[in-house]
Amino acid sequence: MGPLCFMAPSYTDRFANEKQEMHVEAGGLGPICLAMENALIIGASGGIGGALATALHQRGVAVSTLSRSVDGLDITHEASVARAMAGLHGPFDLVLVASGGLEIDGMAPEKSLRQIDAQAMAAQFALNCIGPALVLKYALPLLPRTGRCVFAALSARVGSIGDNRLGGWVSYRAAKAALNQVIHTGAIELARSHKGAICVALHPGTVQTDFTQKYLGRHPAVPPATAAANLLAVIDGLQHPDSGGFFDWQGKSVPW
Ligand SMILES: NC(=O)c1ccc[n+]([C@@H]2O[C@H](COP(=O)([O-])OP(=O)(O)OC[C@H]3O[C@@H](n4cnc5c(N)ncnc54)[C@H](OP(=O)(O)O)[C@@H]3O)[C@@H](O)[C@H]2O)c1
Repeated sequence: MGPLCFMAPSYTDRFANEKQEMHVEAGGLGPICLAMENALIIGASGGIGGALATALHQRGVAVSTLSRSVDGLDITHEASVARAMAGLHGPFDLVLVASGGLEIDGMAPEKSLRQIDAQAMAAQFALNCIGPALVLKYALPLLPRTGRCVFAALSARVGSIGDNRLGGWVSYRAAKAALNQVIHTGAIELARSHKGAICVALHPGTVQTDFTQKYLGRHPAVPPATAAANLLAVIDGLQHPDSGGFFDWQGKSVPW
């Protein structure tokens, strides 16, 4: 039997329900999901991934974790992803990819088009787009064919083309935009084989982690535990029509 959730209206309808929006903005638990039993967090060594694993564990969910520094999983190498995922026992009702990077091998994000470097851009795509795509590929046999399950990848609002007014960070932005396309495409195919699957890209907000340490400045940011609570509230509230979407930490749809 699929998970039993007391669902609020779909987030795609969320502007019709101000109460729900306020609830999520308050970082509350969101709709109560009674039956999330098994979750897999990829990138659990990271700030947000670690906080998500802790929050799920505190809810009584059985949490499996994989990460590069602890388990040797390198999501930029298909053989590594295949090996790591083959060792898992599903089904998982949540698979969440929390790995990613802004600065890879010391290459800071571009401030200008003149700083584009082919190798650095390829590394961005490998980590922030191809990696989650490989996880999705190898997660397919680990997702239940019937009943609600969620596959989510942490994207970033800066990957939104419609929301981009500042420019810069071209490789990271482009890799996250490509990730969003992978998620949207994946959702269409998943709907055929896994009837209750919801596949989404999520923006976690600005979060105090190693990732943001050098770039925050005076920009307000929340601790990882707050980000995890926000993301789980959004995940709890997702319904099937939301699959293929890109949502922020408040559950608001982000423009592509
Ligand atoms: N923090 C923010 O404000 C923010 C905002 C928007 C979007 N995001 C997105 O949220 C996600 C998590 O960010 P975070 O702030 O939690 O970052 P973080 O603390 O720096 O964690 C990054 C995670 O990515 C993993 N990783 C890096 N390269 C990897 C590879 N080749 N193979 C496997 N794992 C790899 C790291 O693993 P190891 O440490 O084990 O090497 C770590 O678990 C990223 O996708 C990021 O783009 C974050």
